[in-house]
Amino acid sequence: MFIALTGTPGCGKTSVSGLLENEFGYRVVHLNELIKSENLFIEEDKQRDCVVTDLDVVQKRLSPIEEFENPVIIDSHMAHLIADISIVLRTAPGELKKRLEKRGYKPAKVDENIEAECLDVILVESVENCEMVFEVDTTGRSMSEVAEDVREIIDSISPGHPPLDKFKPGAFDWSGEIF
Ligand SMILES: Nc1ncnc2c1ncn2[C@@H]1O[C@H](COP(=O)(O)OP(=O)(O)O)[C@@H](O)[C@H]1O
Ligand SMILES: [Mg+2]
Repeated sequence: MFIALTGTPGCGKTSVSGLLENEFGYRVVHLNELIKSENLFIEEDKQRDCVVTDLDVVQKRLSPIEEFENPVIIDSHMAHLIADISIVLRTAPGELKKRLEKRGYKPAKVDENIEAECLDVILVESVENCEMVFEVDTTGRSMSEVAEDVREIIDSISPGHPPLDKFKPGAFDWSGEIF
């Protein structure tokens, strides 16, 4: 079973999934690393400073892992296009901007990502593609608090267990913050 840990770059996917992997023993696929180390991309988009991937190729590479009974967390901003369950990390635009600037992103790339966060791009894609979608706030919260929430969600995903209300999608509206 795949569980997507997804969200706009800078929301904390890799940090939080690292904690889940190292502290709690979850199996995690860090998809960006895998794509780069195994050359699963089509080309590098130098202008946008990212790689262009073929989702079919990635899906084929991951399909043997999907059979695992225990959940496998996929850390990627496109994980929700592969998994049926999506946990979307959300970060308020002001804080996300600071994180991306600190990471050395160019202004155009910062703006592109802030706009995507304000417009709920990954949430909308998740709702379109996944059977179950959850949202977790990372704004002003520590990575371990966020990891605890993700753990609670994963523990709640079992047949017959109702989805947890507090992580129901639709809680955030940053549409007024698009500049
Ligand atoms: N909850 C958090 N609070 C503050 N900073 C965070 C938090 N989660 C991640 N960060 C920081 O934000 C940056 C991006 O985190 P990262 O895990 O690489 O995000 P992603 O994998 O989603 O792009 C890193 O510098 C990380 O230390
Ligand atoms: Mg990452």
